[in-house]
Amino acid sequence: MIESFDAPVGSLYVHVPFCAQKCNYCAFYSEAANGEIINRYVSALGRELEIVAADLRPQTIFFGGGTPSLLNLRQWERLLRTMERLQLTGAAEWTVECNPATVSLDKAKLLRDHGVNRVSMGVQSLDETLLDRLERVHSREMVFKSFDTLRAAGFDNINIDLMFAIPGQTLKVWRETLVEALALGSEHLSSYEVIYEDDTPLFARLKAGEFDVDEELAENMFEELIAQAAGAGFQQYEIANFARHVSEADAPATSNIFDPQIPSRACRHNVNYWRGGAYYGLGPSATGYVRGVRSRNWSNTPLYCEQLEQDRRAIESNEELAPRARAGEIAAFGLRMNAGWPFEQFQRVTGWDLRREWAGEMSQLVSRGWARSDERRFQLTPAGLRFADSAAEFFLR
Ligand SMILES: C[S@@+](CC[C@H](N)C(=O)[O-])C[C@H]1O[C@@H](n2cnc3c(N)ncnc32)[C@H](O)[C@@H]1O
Ligand code: SF4
Repeated sequence: MIESFDAPVGSLYVHVPFCAQKCNYCAFYSEAANGEIINRYVSALGRELEIVAADLRPQTIFFGGGTPSLLNLRQWERLLRTMERLQLTGAAEWTVECNPATVSLDKAKLLRDHGVNRVSMGVQSLDETLLDRLERVHSREMVFKSFDTLRAAGFDNINIDLMFAIPGQTLKVWRETLVEALALGSEHLSSYEVIYEDDTPLFARLKAGEFDVDEELAENMFEELIAQAAGAGFQQYEIANFARHVSEADAPATSNIFDPQIPSRACRHNVNYWRGGAYYGLGPSATGYVRGVRSRNWSNTPLYCEQLEQDRRAIESNEELAPRARAGEIAAFGLRMNAGWPFEQFQRVTGWDLRREWAGEMSQLVSRGWARSDERRFQLTPAGLRFADSAAEFFLR
């Protein structure tokens, strides 16, 4: 039975397109800003929330960016009041992304008091030279201070983001960063290898020959990450994501994302996304996926505001895939998770039987040693997870 298309959507992503300063590797839609444009954005976002509220009962909310913590107290108060009026608060998991330079106790308490219960903090590195090289706006000291501030405000579910294979980063420096970062005792860790995104200053410097990419070193750093995270009690549940398993009582309650192989402190919002669940995406450049239609908002904050000031959603494009192609895409997403796909759940989400429709592709992956299968689920092996993008291609063609 395919999941109901009538029920309100259970997940909300909000994009906040502002940062204190632009990091040189980052291709997310965001710009250094303050003052009036942020006020205008907060009003426009309030209008966009009003437009979709009747079709939304968020069990997970994720404010990403950009840097949501850049909004000041007054702007957050305004936004939170709007969400309360629209009955959009009270999600089981509500994450706000923060930059260590823009965390204050007042702001953290305000968020916590209104139902935000998870913070994701961009740390990237704890090496001062590398932080400078990435043009991060914060120091290593600010990371430790902000982490303590978040704990003092009552956050017991914190993620930190780290990057590896940063130009000039040695294996020794990466090891030290991991030791110090894990000692913070966060509940979740996301760690990405640097991606050289087109049109970023870091990409231009790579092209100019200022440094080389060392794939073997990156591979060793990934191995180090897996080993240290496991040693610190984290369970890897997606290629770049690790979480603690706190207790059974804490396990995700919503059926779409519950899976005994996923640790309880996994990011439920992202699990819903990888498992093909619906979500609204609001704010400039945000994508949403509602009733089989993928939509994308304009990546242009003034234009976004202008549209909403005229009571129109600021959607640049809508795309509706044919049902089988959509199911293939959902299969590919889900395989990024260590738990892979329980067959029964795949059928419930997509209406297709993975075993029947993709039997050939699955057995090819198994014979390469990239995947395994039993009577209940299909999942990539550690070797397969390393080539997850290539494995995904099998389901996308
Ligand atoms: C929107 S940012 C996180 C919050 C906040 N903006 C900050 O940076 O402090 C999301 C995360 O994506 C990762 N990221 C961004 N660009 C990346 C790139 N080019 N390569 C690898 N990871 C990247 C970083 O770890 C970053 O923390
Ligand atoms: S990594 Fe975070 S802080 Fe840096 S530019 Fe991107 S969104 Fe902004």
